[in-house]
Amino acid sequence: MHRHTTFRQLEIFEAIARLGSFTRASEELFLTQPTVSMQIKKLSEAVGVPLYEQVGKKLHLTPDGQELAQAAREIFGILNRYTMSVAERQGLKQGQLRLMAITTASYFAPRLLGEFSKLYPGIDVSLRVTNKEQVLASMADNLDDLYFVGQPPEDIHVVATPIMDNPIIVLAAPDHPLAGKKKIPLARIVQEPWLMRERGSGTRNAIERMFRTYDINIHPRLELGSNEAVKQAILAGLGISALSRHALALNQPEQFAELDVEGFPILRHWYAVYPAGRQLSVVARAFLDYLLKRDEAMPAPDGRRKA
Ligand code: PGA
Repeated sequence: MHRHTTFRQLEIFEAIARLGSFTRASEELFLTQPTVSMQIKKLSEAVGVPLYEQVGKKLHLTPDGQELAQAAREIFGILNRYTMSVAERQGLKQGQLRLMAITTASYFAPRLLGEFSKLYPGIDVSLRVTNKEQVLASMADNLDDLYFVGQPPEDIHVVATPIMDNPIIVLAAPDHPLAGKKKIPLARIVQEPWLMRERGSGTRNAIERMFRTYDINIHPRLELGSNEAVKQAILAGLGISALSRHALALNQPEQFAELDVEGFPILRHWYAVYPAGRQLSVVARAFLDYLLKRDEAMPAPDGRRKA
């Protein structure tokens, strides 16, 4: 039968089998009834056995007809999967990925993006690092593919996937008197001059929330608008602070003393977030999969990598 059968005929036959009517099949496929009848006649001749019978107005498939309808569905299923995987490979060869990261996420986002674009060099990547307000605005306008945030927004309906731990640790200058002390109580640490990130910072919110749960008020001595400024102020001996462990660049941990304070580290996560109504692009989906498959995805809470 193969030499005489066309995909068009199989498509028409599958529609007739599914809808139980020539008329409905012709409507679905935007064909005239005579075309449909003609194609089915040719198909029946090519197969050489009856495919259906008409009982009154009802159309019944014969067992041979049912088997053919099933074969047609399998063929179309295979072709669909093929078409999708070609589109996917094309998308991964030349797609675009637009990311936005909240301030502190800038310490790890470029590295992840760099690793990913080595795997898919044809993809055009962009990363904007900005504050919470702009992240929320861009999310509401559906402008970027994915957002890295420390706290998924509550007033926008989003899909949030935790991709990494984000411990907040207490940092002091290495010669600080509390360096090396064990289990420093919060009531003691709050007496130190605190350096705080600006209002609206996720890091600051997490610290304030933690102190509130212990019913302790914290009064910052200095407010500074970036992690870098806070780090410089710590090193200058102006006070202590708590920052995301990610804010210590790879070569910096030994420049600071991490203090062992009750309630710390505060265990948070980094999330990759996108608006719930958004259909992720092939590229964005591949990037998210990549993030979740990395060995260092969600390291142990103390910052060690998973074994
Ligand atoms: P941020 O970091 O402190 O720079 O706002 C985001 C977060 O940790 O939620």
